[in-house]
Amino acid sequence: MNSAPLGFFDSGVGGLTVVRAVQDLLPMENMVYLGDTARLPYGSKSPETIRQFADEDTRFLISKGVKAVVVACNTATAHALPQLRELYRVPIIGVIEAGVDAALADPNAERIGIIATRGTIRSHAYQHALAQRRTGLIIHGQPAPLLVPLVEEDWIEHPATRLVLRSYLDPLVEKGIDTLMLACTHYPLLIPALREVLPADVRLVDSATTCAEHLRKELEALDLLAPEHGEGKLEVHLTDLSEEFETLARRFLKRAPGRIHRASLGGAS
Ligand code: DGL
Repeated sequence: MNSAPLGFFDSGVGGLTVVRAVQDLLPMENMVYLGDTARLPYGSKSPETIRQFADEDTRFLISKGVKAVVVACNTATAHALPQLRELYRVPIIGVIEAGVDAALADPNAERIGIIATRGTIRSHAYQHALAQRRTGLIIHGQPAPLLVPLVEEDWIEHPATRLVLRSYLDPLVEKGIDTLMLACTHYPLLIPALREVLPADVRLVDSATTCAEHLRKELEALDLLAPEHGEGKLEVHLTDLSEEFETLARRFLKRAPGRIHRASLGGAS
């Protein structure tokens, strides 16, 4: 079982930021990644639809024999994690718990800003998780729907992105946030741009690296870590294939993703 792959799913290729962080931390792990590119984005869809998609994504990964499922999508974690944990026996890890723990690891964190898709902010999943762990926090959730397309267009350095970031972040800065949670798969790629528009003392917490650390601890506790020797393989499945997705996948992963398979969520792949 320890050599079985870890399964990851996301609405698209953004969840590869989580895969990359896990590859850096746990290079011996085999991984299967599913990106539901045929139906993205998830961030603007209703909770019911997200739950249905997340269920199909999870079943696909389980059919690949994974030892644990990582919901590498903030929107899917926000809406579907409790339901998935009820339905399936395989360990299921989301991105929210780890991000919240990391944000509150600083005992002085008091004013927390969250940027995410509309769906994640509306779910209040982050806001509830934060408030449950520490009383007296001042939490500001800011939907930032334009950031995903800007990252996908590779407009990271573009002045338009700076402008959009300022429109989203200035109100949070005015409210005196000390911590900003990057609650979306795509945002780690914006860290250099975010650093430019935010005051230097605002701490950034990204869900990819925090999730990787959380996953390592969970696997250790469950005695499910892969044997130390060897290098793990990554298998990427997408529900829609296009040249753009391949290029994007390379950018998110910072290396070639290998052959990408076309996934059909009806059962066969
Ligand atoms: N993966 C989504 C998330 O982390 C962003 C992209 C989408 O809206 O599907 O919330």
